[in-house]
Amino acid sequence: PQPVALQATAQANANIALVKYWGKADDELIIPNASSLSLTIDGLGTTTQVTFHADGAVQDGSARVDAESTSRPMPQEQGLCGDGHESSQDSDTLIIDGRQHSGKALHRVSDLLDRIRELSGLHAPATVISRNTVPYAAGLASSASAFAALAAAGSRAAGLNLDPKDLSRLARRGSGSASRSIYSGLAVWHAGHDDVSSYAEPVSTIMEDAAEGAVAEDFGMNLAMVVILISNRKKSLSSRVAMRRSVQTSPLYQAWIESCGRDLHQALAAIGHADVEALGAIAESNSYGMHATMMTAQPPVVYWQPATVEALHAVEELRAEGIGAWSTMDAGPNVKVLTASKDAVRVCESLRERLPELDIRVHEAGKGVRILDRTV
Ligand code: PMV
Repeated sequence: PQPVALQATAQANANIALVKYWGKADDELIIPNASSLSLTIDGLGTTTQVTFHADGAVQDGSARVDAESTSRPMPQEQGLCGDGHESSQDSDTLIIDGRQHSGKALHRVSDLLDRIRELSGLHAPATVISRNTVPYAAGLASSASAFAALAAAGSRAAGLNLDPKDLSRLARRGSGSASRSIYSGLAVWHAGHDDVSSYAEPVSTIMEDAAEGAVAEDFGMNLAMVVILISNRKKSLSSRVAMRRSVQTSPLYQAWIESCGRDLHQALAAIGHADVEALGAIAESNSYGMHATMMTAQPPVVYWQPATVEALHAVEELRAEGIGAWSTMDAGPNVKVLTASKDAVRVCESLRERLPELDIRVHEAGKGVRILDRTV
């Protein structure tokens, strides 16, 4: 039979958490221990094209597999590491920034594609071609933009038309933080307790519900992130492993989870009052709290480098000068600085003066995931 190309392309941006997600209640379904809050930013993103080969032909035509033979067990029944179970990574193809990937990366992608195959009833291998629109190499944006783009392109290519909430739930299965990259600007990922109840929503929806009426987009917050690139090398330890270690061994972990509930509550109140200062202070302290659970894990997880500490001090100096800037960090050495959009250029220039050897750029609030007309 002629190959039937079921194809779609999607673009998604990275998001930076202001109240972090760190630790899972359910490793398989990726249900977090606490709800989180993030800002989607522009300029750090992924464009992904997914093509299902509906006749079961692999892309180069060198081999053919029966489409039915690619039917997989439910993702819940699969292990994470791929040992000892059949996987569609045997038939899916993954190309990231021009390089073909196998192993763990392909396995994670195939797991999400399996979920899409299950939802759509489509039993076909896929080719995934992904480009990171990151201005300075990889290793900075989390897997958020990658799995949000994959979920959107994959579900559309398979003929599914998921609403944002279901798309968020699907993206979550690839990488927790991806659930939030579905939306523009500020988003909350409700921890929930199962696959159905764990999804992200735009903050504006939550506030509208609370206020019972329409409110201005992002509550006039007009936030930006100034990103201080300290290293674009692949991190030494994945966030998956690091967060599990915090959960299992840090004596601070329980206190951290409790603080996340309070932080989210106060952060939403700060957003409601368009109080950047209050939001910044919460974000900074929440990030330090998360890193405290890493540093007190056994063995400790320390993503910080000497330049990280310099950058954190530089942000404090800016604040001492009366400039509104607050640091936040994820599972890596890079420092992101939350600020009001109107102050972003000034913050960026002041940081460049203090840290002349580092690559520092402004990222405004970014758009949510979208389907593109063009291919990659
Ligand atoms: O989505 P993951 O598994 O890459 O975890 C991301 C965790 C942090 O980036 C450190 C925090 C967050 O909420 O994004």
